[in-house]
Amino acid sequence: MSKTTYLLLILTAFILTQNRAFTADPLAFDPGMHAPERTLDFPDGKSVKYRAYEHIYYVAHVVDPVYQTLNLYVPESAYGNNTQTPIFLKTNVGGYMASKASQPSATDATGRALLEGYIVVIPGARGSNSTVIRAAGDTLWTGRAPAGLIDLKSAIRYLRHNKATIPGDTEKIITDGTSAGGAMSSLLGATGNHPAYEPYLKAVGAANERDDVFAAVCYCPITDLEHADMAYEWLYSPTNTGTRSLSPEQIAISNALAASYPAYLNSLNLRKPDGSPLTADNYIAYMKSFLIRSAQKARNEGCEIPPETGVKLNTGFRGSPGEFVVDIDLEVYFNYILNKRQLKTPPAFDQSGVLIDRPSPENSVFGDETGNAVNFTAFSLQKATGHASATPDPSTIEKVRLMNPMSFIGDGVSRTTPNWYIRHGAIDRDTGFQISINLYTKLINNGYNVDFALPWNRGHSGDYNLDDLFEWMKEIL
Ligand code: DHB
Repeated sequence: MSKTTYLLLILTAFILTQNRAFTADPLAFDPGMHAPERTLDFPDGKSVKYRAYEHIYYVAHVVDPVYQTLNLYVPESAYGNNTQTPIFLKTNVGGYMASKASQPSATDATGRALLEGYIVVIPGARGSNSTVIRAAGDTLWTGRAPAGLIDLKSAIRYLRHNKATIPGDTEKIITDGTSAGGAMSSLLGATGNHPAYEPYLKAVGAANERDDVFAAVCYCPITDLEHADMAYEWLYSPTNTGTRSLSPEQIAISNALAASYPAYLNSLNLRKPDGSPLTADNYIAYMKSFLIRSAQKARNEGCEIPPETGVKLNTGFRGSPGEFVVDIDLEVYFNYILNKRQLKTPPAFDQSGVLIDRPSPENSVFGDETGNAVNFTAFSLQKATGHASATPDPSTIEKVRLMNPMSFIGDGVSRTTPNWYIRHGAIDRDTGFQISINLYTKLINNGYNVDFALPWNRGHSGDYNLDDLFEWMKEIL
C-alpha cells in the first residue's frame, strides 16, 4: 500500500467514525417523535390540547432506565417548534427517593402550566431507593446523593444540548418541586454550572452544557440537612416537656442539639432586609414577623384566626375589616401546630442509630452503595458509635455539601438564578421554619429576587395558590 493510499484510508476511517459519532448522538432530540395529540381536562371545564414526548433518556450512560428519562409536553399554543416559550420543569422527588417522569396533572402546577402555554418537562431521577442487580447477583444502590440532583442537572443539560430542535426557550427554565423536591429545586437554582458536580455529570454521560436555570420554585424545601436537627430542636425544645412529651433521653439529645444552633446561626452572618445583622438573639422576632405577615394576609382574605393559634388581633377592631395582627404567642402557636401533627423526635433528620435504628430519608440518601444508611453529622455519628471524636468521612462531608444550596449561594463560582419563589407552610413541621427563612435571607443578602412567604394554616405540601405562582412567573418573565 502506497503512503498516499494509507493516508487516504486513515482519513476515510476518521471521517466515517466522526460521522457515526455525529449521527448517533445518543442525546439528540427528535422533534417528530411525539405521540398523537392528547387533551387534559380540568375540573372547572377548561381543557388544553398538547403533544407528548415521553421516555427520553437524558444521559448517555444510563444506569437506571426506569428513572433517568424525561417527558416533555407542548401545549397547542406552542406547536411549531416555538423557541420563545418558557419551560416549566417539575421534579416529583419526594422523601429523597427515586421519582419517575410522569404526565401532566390537572391537580398540580404541571397542568396549570400547560394551560397557561408553558412547555412542561417532568424528568425522573434516581433516589435513595434506586437499585440495580449486578451480574454477580448482588444489589447496588445507585441513587445515593448527589445522584438525584445529578440526574436533574443532566435533564437540564439535555434540553440545552437540543436547544435548536426542542420546543421551548432553554434560557427560561423554571424549576418546581416540593419538600425533598423543593430542596432539589433550590439546588438547581443555587448551584448552576458549579464545577464540583462535573465528575458526576461526566460519569453519567450528561451533555456538555450549562445547567443553570432561570428561576426556582421551592415548596417547603427540606434542605440544609446537616443543620436541620439543631434548628428543629432550637425551635421546638420549649415544648419538650409539654405537648411533645419526650423521654428524658430524647430531652437530653434535644437540649444538646438546640444548644449548638446559635453558633451556626451567627456564623451565617445574615442580614435582615433592613441591613441590620440577624443573630440568634433577634432571630425569634424576625421569624415572628413572617408568621404575623402570614396571619395578617389570611385575615385580610377573610380567614378566621382562632385564639388557640396564639395570634393577637387588635382587639379595638376585632371583627372589623381593619382588624390587624399585633403579635403571636409562639408557645401557644407551637402547641397549635403540635395538635395538628406530632413533631419529629430528636434527632429529626440524622436519626439512624441514635435513639432509634430506623434510618430517616436523609440517612438513606447519604447511605452507601451497598445499602447501608449513613450518619452525616458528627453529633449523630458520635452518639451512634459511642466515639466522642468521630466525624463523618470526607466523602460523606462532600456529599452533604453538594446537597446544600447554602454552601453555594454567593460563592462567586455558581451561576445562581436571580429569581426565587419560596413557600413554607405556617403549620409545616417537617423541618424548622429557619431552613426556608435562612435560605430566603441568604439569597436576598446576595442580591437575588425572592418572593417568600409562610402561608397561613398550610402544612407540608406544594403547588398550591397557583394563581400567585403563575402571576409571579409572568412578572419575572
Ligand atoms: C420529605 C419529608 C421529610 O420530612 C423529610 O425529612 C424528607 C423529605 C418529603 O416529603 O420529601
